Amino acid sequence: MMLTIARPDDWHLHLRDGAMLEAVLPYTAAHFGRALAMPNLVPPVTTAALAAAYRQRILDAGAGDFEPVLAGYLTNRTDPDDVAAGFRDGAWRAMKLYPAKATTNSDHGVTDIDSIRPVFERMAEIGMPLCVHGEVTSDDVDIFDREAVFLDTVLTPVREALPSLKIIVEHATTRQSVEFVEAYANTWASLTPHHLWWNRNAIFAGGLRPHAYCLPVLKREEHRKALVRAAISGDAKFFAGTDSAPHPVHRKESDCGCAGVFCAPTALSTYAEVFEREGALERLETFTSFHGADCYGVPRPTETVTLVKEAWTPPETITAGEHPVRVFRGGESVAWRVEA
Ligand code: NCD
Ligand code: ZN
Repeated sequence: MMLTIARPDDWHLHLRDGAMLEAVLPYTAAHFGRALAMPNLVPPVTTAALAAAYRQRILDAGAGDFEPVLAGYLTNRTDPDDVAAGFRDGAWRAMKLYPAKATTNSDHGVTDIDSIRPVFERMAEIGMPLCVHGEVTSDDVDIFDREAVFLDTVLTPVREALPSLKIIVEHATTRQSVEFVEAYANTWASLTPHHLWWNRNAIFAGGLRPHAYCLPVLKREEHRKALVRAAISGDAKFFAGTDSAPHPVHRKESDCGCAGVFCAPTALSTYAEVFEREGALERLETFTSFHGADCYGVPRPTETVTLVKEAWTPPETITAGEHPVRVFRGGESVAWRVEA
């Protein structure tokens, strides 16, 4: 069986920098035409000038006709004029809200959501999307509840105060996020292959599995099912964003292992496998290739990729500089292959 679809876009991607960027970029560029490059570098991409420079480093890493699209990193001190100028010039197309300390390299993130209200207002005026890492960070909230509590206590007030602001719930992991997105206009969610594939048992399957640890952390099966239902529904509010987040193996297999799943090599195959299992392959293309472009207001892709139903075994790791990076579903049998 073969399936040709418009070349997908990845609306949530961590490309990093330097040797890691060079190692991982080809895997994304082989399958995706564009990707929204996340700004949680060290130091983070907090200004339009830094975004333009990072965009150039990605282009210089040599990705053929692949087009990086940049997201900026919001801090308590983000300047609304810089945000708007960068949006006008194409330096960046969206801003990312990381609650401080929510995830990898988010130390500079926003501690006081009210302090950046003027930035949100400006973004609403100019039609610039807000990408949200939706988790509270307080120790007294159970880690599995942090997304749902964030929706109630932080995002709902913003959502209701600024109905015209485009909001994307990034890497949605819960039924509550799906319902939130469905309930409000101008609200979308990106969905990752690993949250569609795994539930939280994967973190503890036969022992502690650091390579299944990502943020927001995997949830119960009922939540995974809600995400799958949203993905295959055909609803234009849900689209692909892989959250491919490479880390060297030694940083994940550690006393305090870091969060992130490197899924770029198997993301598109996994989306296809999920849709096929649900008998929804005919809706794969709108999810991977149209809904995100429509949300971001960019033209739908004109090129295509072909998927072949042919089992293959991805490598367990790839190498970045001197370091191995574990591949999502590496060493397992994967049902769909993307034709070269
Ligand atoms: C991401 C990373 O490693 O940069 N990690 C993750 O678990 N998803 C950060 C993020 O998107 O939260
Ligand atoms: Zn991410």
